[in-house]
Amino acid sequence: MKGRVLLASLCLLAGCERGMHQMYDQPRYERGDEAPLFADGVAARTPPQGSVATTGTEAMPEPPPHTEALLERGRDRYTIYCTPCHGAGGDGDGMVVRRGFPRPPSYHEQRLRDADDRHIYDVITHGWGVMYPYADRVSPADRQAIVAYIRALQFSRHAPVDRLEPEDLSRLRDLPDAGSRR
Ligand code: HEC
Repeated sequence: MKGRVLLASLCLLAGCERGMHQMYDQPRYERGDEAPLFADGVAARTPPQGSVATTGTEAMPEPPPHTEALLERGRDRYTIYCTPCHGAGGDGDGMVVRRGFPRPPSYHEQRLRDADDRHIYDVITHGWGVMYPYADRVSPADRQAIVAYIRALQFSRHAPVDRLEPEDLSRLRDLPDAGSRR
């Protein structure tokens, strides 16, 4: 079961790399232009200085099993709502950041690898520092799908080799940017 889920996430990540390259091919927009690339038009907005994220006590639904369908949904929502700033690989190098928005931390730094699911869920719900809350655009179920996808992204960079099945390893070598994982 673990192996199957991992395989599923690797396939998704392979798709993700393709998406990234497509993104690089997108036309660029100047500040003030309409930016149809970003569904919520967030590209043109500037956050109010000193805005503070509120903390809340909204319950997080029971974590769903990490199925292929969940990861696929997570990738889809992540690509729409998070990639513009966090980048397809989660490095914090999205298009909006390259146009001057404050750079988010990489999901691959130790602190965020150690953070629990709840923290990421809460950041989506309530925002964090200069990042806007997404509660009105991303449903609780979709927040969980995004959390699962971010976990897969993190795992893809730091998977301990002894936790991989042989077929997973060969899949990993087949990925387009496999060189950086060796
Ligand atoms: C408009 C740009 C933007 C978008 C879109 C965005 N973020 Fe962020 N995010 C940021 C910035 C900037 C920070 C760092 C904020 C700070 O520390 O003040 C951040 C921080 C984070 C953090 C780290 C919190 C911590 O503990 O340091 C997580 C997790 C996160 N975002 C998840 C998401 C997810 C999931 C989505 C999509 C639903 C998303 N973000 C969409 C800009 C964005």
